[in-house]
Amino acid sequence: MTAADAIGRHVLELETPALVVDLDLLEANIARAAAYAELRGLALWPHLKTHKTVEVAARQRAAGAVGFTVAKSREAELFAAAGFGPLLLHYPAWGEEKWRRLAEVAGQVPLTVALDGLGAAEGLARALRARGTRADVLVELDAGMGRTGVADAHEALALAQAIERIAGGGAAAGGGRGATGSGATGGGVLHVAGISCYPGHVRGTLDQVRARLAEVDALLCATRDAFTRAGIDCARISGGSTATLQLSHETCMTEVRAGNYVFLDRSEARGGWSAADAALRVHAAVVSTAVPGRMVLDAGAKTLSEAGPPAGLTGWAQVATAPGAEVVALNEEHAVCVLPQGATARVGDRHELVPNHACTCANLHPFLYAARGGVVEEVWPLIARGEVR
Ligand SMILES: Cc1ncc(COP(=O)(O)O)c(C=O)c1O
Repeated sequence: MTAADAIGRHVLELETPALVVDLDLLEANIARAAAYAELRGLALWPHLKTHKTVEVAARQRAAGAVGFTVAKSREAELFAAAGFGPLLLHYPAWGEEKWRRLAEVAGQVPLTVALDGLGAAEGLARALRARGTRADVLVELDAGMGRTGVADAHEALALAQAIERIAGGGAAAGGGRGATGSGATGGGVLHVAGISCYPGHVRGTLDQVRARLAEVDALLCATRDAFTRAGIDCARISGGSTATLQLSHETCMTEVRAGNYVFLDRSEARGGWSAADAALRVHAAVVSTAVPGRMVLDAGAKTLSEAGPPAGLTGWAQVATAPGAEVVALNEEHAVCVLPQGATARVGDRHELVPNHACTCANLHPFLYAARGGVVEEVWPLIARGEVR
């Protein structure tokens, strides 16, 4: 059966393993986040790395997303070509080739980049000048994750001022299309438009998230105040992850970049989501029951990704259709499940797996079956899957 032949078929007829998105759940997840952002006056910039799929992005845009976040320059190129923008590249892009490609993207859609170092700003500024385009910059702060971002308001302000200095005041050469849609007002090739952070370390119960997010907020507010005092634009304060999304209005953030919220997975389980909300499932079949008390499914690390269990959970995926079964081992092509006491399994039985991490799982698949009520309505290519540059 080709992918297109699947349209109109029941998901139980699909050859396994198959990546299936439940349209009702997907649309509910998109609508819930969009309603929250609208109610709280936050701009939603969904992260495209989760799904890399035009059809999902189109639904997010229809629900009110004002822009889209990407991690990779290639994602920016592909989604700009597909008509999606403004774009925010929230990744420290480094290297002449990347800067050149980003300068091209900036000629197609309004582009913002999040930066935490002057070297990247200088390289990008050179490429933008050569191409005659411009971009907005958000100065990234490390909110506590210890991954990227400058440490505090003082460092952020120093970097913002240095970027403004190298951005070169005069209008961009060549009359390239500017980042008008993302608030650029300065005349240089780069314009500091605000600050950003990724509070990826903030997870847990609502109370835990609220407490840790307050610390993040203190850093953001102090930096905003320092920028304002120094006359640096700080209209945009970008943050947000799926785990913190629903509390973003308790901070000074003006925009949120949640990604995983469209699918949801076990990594979000402590945030109040359950497997019942997870829109993305891997449909797998039992291929062996030879070892007593176990069943082996045809979905290994090359299907689910090797993402381990989130803190507080065990298992390499959740078997949504077999409560109590635990995926105790994941090989390249096998998921080894221990069955609950007294349970049996037969070769050929089918199961739905909720991956530990939807984003890395989706990235392994060329297309997604989009199903409603168990019937495949469409087949969607992941246009940027595997694009790591
Ligand atoms: C910089 C950045 N922003 C936003 C997100 C979206 O977070 P989530 O997928 O938890 O919604 C991520 C996720 O890795 C990220 O790295």
